[in-house]
Amino acid sequence: MTSCFVVFVLQMWPDNAHMSSHSREVLQGPPRYPIDLFHTGNIVKICAPMVRYSKLSFRTLVRKYNCDLCYTPMIVATDFVRSVKARNSEFTTNQGDHPLIVQFAAKEAQVLADAAHIISPFADGIDLNCGCPQRWAMTEGYGACLINKPELVQEMVRLVRNQVENPMFTVSIKIRIHDDLKRTVDLCQKAEAAGVSWITVHGRNVEERHQPVHYDAIKIIKQSMSIPVVANGDMKSLKDVEDIHQITGADGVMVARGLLANPAMFAGYEETPLHCIQHWIDIALEHGTPFTCFHHHLMYMLERITSKQEKKIFNVLSSTSAVLDYLRDNYGVK
Ligand SMILES: Cc1cc2nc3c(=O)[nH]c(=O)nc-3n(C[C@H](O)[C@H](O)[C@H](O)COP(=O)(O)O)c2cc1C
Repeated sequence: MTSCFVVFVLQMWPDNAHMSSHSREVLQGPPRYPIDLFHTGNIVKICAPMVRYSKLSFRTLVRKYNCDLCYTPMIVATDFVRSVKARNSEFTTNQGDHPLIVQFAAKEAQVLADAAHIISPFADGIDLNCGCPQRWAMTEGYGACLINKPELVQEMVRLVRNQVENPMFTVSIKIRIHDDLKRTVDLCQKAEAAGVSWITVHGRNVEERHQPVHYDAIKIIKQSMSIPVVANGDMKSLKDVEDIHQITGADGVMVARGLLANPAMFAGYEETPLHCIQHWIDIALEHGTPFTCFHHHLMYMLERITSKQEKKIFNVLSSTSAVLDYLRDNYGVK
């Protein structure tokens, strides 16, 4: 069952982090901490943070199809720390939702450390967003503007490391690259010195949107680091994952839009199989996923497998029952 994040749970558990990892062990076999994933010798396959989309229901779906690690959407740390209401609306998890990284937007070390402390019994690590290029985020001092403040990133990583007791709890960063790659390497090495667990590199600079990803830059960053590096950008199939792994030498791959279009991508499917759509319906109905989210995900999943004509009809359906009827009549999905 879905369980919302409720703050009083924290006050009832004297040793939260331990409780949480212990219950996981009992329920799911051997614990799989995120950092262990990077030591298996296999490329770690990661579902990216996606505002509005990488929520519990979608994480539950991709985990059925070989996704090793999931990120929540970005959550603004100040709101999360200040307001129980923000916590309950922004973060939902359950026992099967591991390994899980909660991504925060933050610009002050103490606020990030407080958010990490609050979330630590319920997640396996936090990630600091240093890649969001949106104007509102940059104006607020969040996201990609942090790639130009390596000392602040260092301070944030160090404080989280020092203030979260659980040594297995990870702190990672997700960055974009600079035009001058030396600055990116410097940022990454400073973060490594501060104790960052791994670094995800979206191989574009702050201005780039649809330009080709600079995989060569990810390779150079990987060669300059001792900690794991995760490559991100434009992977749409398992073949792309393998190619990018070869090109960059990265320890993991993170995928956003490829998984929206085909949540079964990491299991080797070229397009969304019907059983994946069936799983999505079952999960979304069980979790009580709001209609807009339920419908948007289906639009993404059907993108590659429906005609223009069909999309015109499907995309304007306005109720769960209409969507279910459509899928039953056209795809035999119940
Ligand atoms: C709908 C959507 C929401 C996103 N939200 C976030 C976010 O919350 N945090 C973040 O770091 N990146 C976010 N991103 C960026 C992705 O994580 C990723 O870096 C980018 O899409 C490139 O990867 P891709 O080519 O696999 O899509 C988002 C992307 C999309 C498409």
